[in-house]
Amino acid sequence: MDQAATLRTMIKGESARIRRITDGYKGGSFSSGTRPKVIAVTSGKGGVGKTNVVGNLAIVCQRKGKRVVIFDADLGLANIDIIMGLNPKLNIEHVIKGEKDLSDIIVRGPEGVAIIPASSGVEELVHLTEGHKLNLLSEFDTLDKMFDMLLIDTGAGISSNVVYFNAAAQERIVVVTPEPTSITDAYALMKVMYYQHGVKNFFLLLNMVKDEKQAKSVFESLTNVAARFLAGVSIEYVGFIPWDSLLKKAVGKREPIVCSHPEASSSAHFRDLADCILKRTEDIVVDGNIKFFWKRLMSIGVEQS
Ligand SMILES: Nc1ncnc2c1ncn2[C@@H]1O[C@H](COP(=O)(O)OP(=O)(O)OP(=O)(O)O)[C@@H](O)[C@H]1O
Ligand SMILES: [Mg+2]
Repeated sequence: MDQAATLRTMIKGESARIRRITDGYKGGSFSSGTRPKVIAVTSGKGGVGKTNVVGNLAIVCQRKGKRVVIFDADLGLANIDIIMGLNPKLNIEHVIKGEKDLSDIIVRGPEGVAIIPASSGVEELVHLTEGHKLNLLSEFDTLDKMFDMLLIDTGAGISSNVVYFNAAAQERIVVVTPEPTSITDAYALMKVMYYQHGVKNFFLLLNMVKDEKQAKSVFESLTNVAARFLAGVSIEYVGFIPWDSLLKKAVGKREPIVCSHPEASSSAHFRDLADCILKRTEDIVVDGNIKFFWKRLMSIGVEQS
């Protein structure tokens, strides 16, 4: 066999393997064994507090005995390693290229929370070459035994990257502030998720609000519009985080608020949020585990391209 023919055979083999891996996903359910929860934290508008929610929620869940890993799928300015006070040297790109194992790049943040650092490659995760996808999928196999919860910091908006991560996750926490553009952008995100990917369930978290009354009024205005124009979509209120000057200071010092100021009102609300999310996700029985999340992510990319 000449060199070109060998190469063609190899590529054919790889394609078949990828298809086998991604074939398991058919419109929303995999059969699964142990089931870590996969939750995306997302928003329509940027700067609404997603990364703070991911970091603090992860720490509180870890305190409650869950083994939590954060995947940083956002390259925003203040990404998760900044908020957690970390300076990772390696990132997901090294795994994609097959240069490192996942275990080499995972860093441990406050209270033992694990973090998979982002890279510029993260924007292209859903459009990887098949060989690179295989590298990732085989690496993510190992995570299912190591963790109980994967939290994804998705970045804001309706770019394909954000939408794919949200579609592949089991649950989505949409973070909204009372700002009108944050509300309309959250609605736009849910609309795209629903019409493009049939996603019907969203958790809504209000951030930077004055009090519960304001949080509930934003929630109601969003659910009213959704009831009229997105029939079938379920938006569940999972609480609020008050505007808190201590949280702003903590970010400046690169410390999660639940560590630096456990007495702060925002810290108390992060604890309530953790209770609520753990309770609401304890019964998830379909779409299990982290590896299936990646398979689904890859298969969404394949379907759309
Ligand atoms: N509850 C709060 N009270 C006061 N300030 C807050 C609160 N939540 C977040 N902030 C501030 O808002 C800013 C943005 O927060 P964060 O980086 O978590 O948002 P983000 O949604 O992840 O942003 P991006 O879309 O850029 O990734 C931070 O500077 C943080 O200090
Ligand atoms: Mg962020």
